[in-house]
Amino acid sequence: MSQPQPGVIPYGSSVIYSGPVDIARPINHDNIRGKTIVITGGASGFGAACLQEWASHGANVIIGDINEKAGTELVARIRQSTGNQNHHFIPLDVTSWPSQAAFFKQAARLSPHGGIDHVMANAGIADAPEQLVFEDPPDYARMDDGPPPKPAMRTLDINLNGVMYTTHLAISYLSRNPGSEKCQVGKHSGTRDRHLILVASIAGLAGLAGQPLYAAAKHGVVGLFRTLRLTTPLKSGIRVNMINPYFVDTPILGPLGAFVMAGGGMATVKSVVEATSRLVADQGIIGRALVIGPNTSEEDAKAMGLERAIEDQAVWDCYAHDFEQTDLFTRRIVGVTNLVTQARGWVGIWSDIRKNLSRKLWKSMGY
Ligand SMILES: NC(=O)c1ccc[n+]([C@@H]2O[C@H](COP(=O)([O-])OP(=O)(O)OC[C@H]3O[C@@H](n4cnc5c(N)ncnc54)[C@H](O)[C@@H]3O)[C@@H](O)[C@H]2O)c1
Repeated sequence: MSQPQPGVIPYGSSVIYSGPVDIARPINHDNIRGKTIVITGGASGFGAACLQEWASHGANVIIGDINEKAGTELVARIRQSTGNQNHHFIPLDVTSWPSQAAFFKQAARLSPHGGIDHVMANAGIADAPEQLVFEDPPDYARMDDGPPPKPAMRTLDINLNGVMYTTHLAISYLSRNPGSEKCQVGKHSGTRDRHLILVASIAGLAGLAGQPLYAAAKHGVVGLFRTLRLTTPLKSGIRVNMINPYFVDTPILGPLGAFVMAGGGMATVKSVVEATSRLVADQGIIGRALVIGPNTSEEDAKAMGLERAIEDQAVWDCYAHDFEQTDLFTRRIVGVTNLVTQARGWVGIWSDIRKNLSRKLWKSMGY
């Protein structure tokens, strides 16, 4: 493919994506060996379970987490059980840009081959109190002493802004992974990879009563996935995939959450690890999303708004068929944008935007 001119999205050929994931196909764990995998929020739950699994298959796993004690202890245990000293814990706060930038830099430096093959944007919280307050605000009109305090939005800071920082850095590092090639459909294995895994949730596909911030953040991650998968494989050769787990009993739910959900058929950490391992191990999977659902009946799954693509499976593809529509829509928009960019160049576009904004500003001032 020829080098596109700056600002032009390479849409001349078609979008690169693979067909629906064959869940029944055995996972090629051999293709995990020797890969450097970075996981945010890797000290607990999904991240910790994936670390354990991928380390057992010969990957070098580097986790970052705000929980330094749990992360350090976990990595020490995994180093001991695998005999591999290339697993690392690095303190990380995903809400902080300097912390994330330093995390990626150190991870690449610690990687035996100097690069990163997979990034799992996984760190997340579900802060119940701030969600309750959001929907039940105080009577602001009656507060007189200056501006009222800002509402807490840590769920958005971590689950969305944190993921944006991770994604931005992942694109930078994965596209420059030494010895790696651009992803290709049909190429299922290789020594090096360029892979971003976005951890969304069922709450990114459907509303989640009582969790407005969490659902908004996860819908944001789904939007990010649906957008990046159209262009990132083309522009940077990075495959972008997503997982959307249903409720799973991990510390994020808190004791009450797990208790409330216990009778409702939860998904399992094992299924999450298996689905994510499939995405990691098969380099031919590009632009796909996997729902990890509960092992409930078909009827119950439908009642929850979860229509399975594959019967009797706890894991299935979602957005399997929307490429056609999205692709067409996006292609048209991109086509028009490219034409304008080519005709006027970036300088022209920015001057249009500036003109438009200043016109609006004058109008808002009553001129
Ligand atoms: N468990 C579920 O039911 C479920 C369902 C769908 C999606 N998810 C998503 O899966 C991901 C992992 O969740 P989990 O179930 O393993 O929960 P978990 O609480 O076990 O793990 C989350 C990890 O993120 C870390 N973390 C929190 N804030 C951080 C920050 N600012 N910087 C760095 N690390 C931070 C925590 O310390 C923890 O180790 C989250 O994004 C979550 O939203 C979970």
